Amino acid sequence: MKILVTGGAGYIGSATSAELIAAGHQVVVFDNLYQGHRQAVPAEAAFVQGDLSSRADVARLFAEHPGIDGIMHFASYTLVGESMQQPLLYLRDNLVNAANLLEAAVAAGVRRFILSSTANLFDDPAKMPIDEHERIVPGSPYGESKFFIERTLHWFERIYGLRYACMRYFNASGDAPERGEDHDPETHLIPLILQVALGQREQITIFGDDYPTPDGTCVRDYVHVADLAQAHILAMESLDRLGSRKYNLGNGSGFSVMEVLDAARRVTGHPIPHVVGPRRPGDPATLVASSESIRRELGWRPRYPDIETIMRSAWEWHRAHPHGYGE
Ligand code: UFG
Repeated sequence: MKILVTGGAGYIGSATSAELIAAGHQVVVFDNLYQGHRQAVPAEAAFVQGDLSSRADVARLFAEHPGIDGIMHFASYTLVGESMQQPLLYLRDNLVNAANLLEAAVAAGVRRFILSSTANLFDDPAKMPIDEHERIVPGSPYGESKFFIERTLHWFERIYGLRYACMRYFNASGDAPERGEDHDPETHLIPLILQVALGQREQITIFGDDYPTPDGTCVRDYVHVADLAQAHILAMESLDRLGSRKYNLGNGSGFSVMEVLDAARRVTGHPIPHVVGPRRPGDPATLVASSESIRRELGWRPRYPDIETIMRSAWEWHRAHPHGYGE
């Protein structure tokens, strides 16, 4: 299939583009390079630099690349914390950008759409691990923006017959040898820990150790980015057969911040000093997904289910690229 990947120069989008190509698909990447990196785009992919906020850019994209069979939509503002500071970046820009994309997609006759959604839809889960029946309570303007896009897809299916899958996930992590996680500013736990091991930062601050979890630090579900990529591809390839659906994605086992830190100490051999700071506003104690549905329906199996393998892959990339794509 010919697949358009928005945000295909970003962390998850570029990893998915590479896996799509390895699976024999043709890839067109569209990215504004705001957080993405041109070097992260696989050489075999076509690349269009443009912004989803510009309907002219989007029109040019579809004019230059006719015959798109499906879209994977990763391009987005993605930080929960930032969305609490600048809600309209999310409640306006994420929505308008998705609307511009969807409008042009149906006009171009695109029939398949995969949304990179979020586990931030579940701020107050009644049951852990969280499955697809959980009540949706967005935890931030970021989560709300993804929920609104999910609802837009519901109506686009009813009205235009667009088939879609919403992939809701937790903590994307790990790297491939050729491409990795490089955000500016970096806010995510694993790259920040590895910056300490690389001597770029003195210590890591743990945001709270008084949560109701076994060791008091937050528990999260870390999924390797290559496993996320495979899940998106399986969802795209099964849309015609199974119809629209929503999947929660995770490893099924959570790891606490302290366990992640200990894994990094084992993998890097560095003591990685830490201090305990106050809780970060908006952080729930535990977030772990049930991936039962996607395992059962699509046969998805994470290839990197344990935190040590994930950490090793991240360490290899960060050690080889201490300044990310800048070097
Ligand atoms: N943490 C620290 N210290 C740090 C950074 C993070 O203790 O310096 C902790 C956080 O409190 C949290 C855990 O490490 O408990 C993971 O934090 P991240 O910032 O790496 O990731 P989040 O869980 O906050 O966010 C991720 C994605 C979001 C998505 C969310 C869904 O980045 O896009 O999961 O739960 F919405």
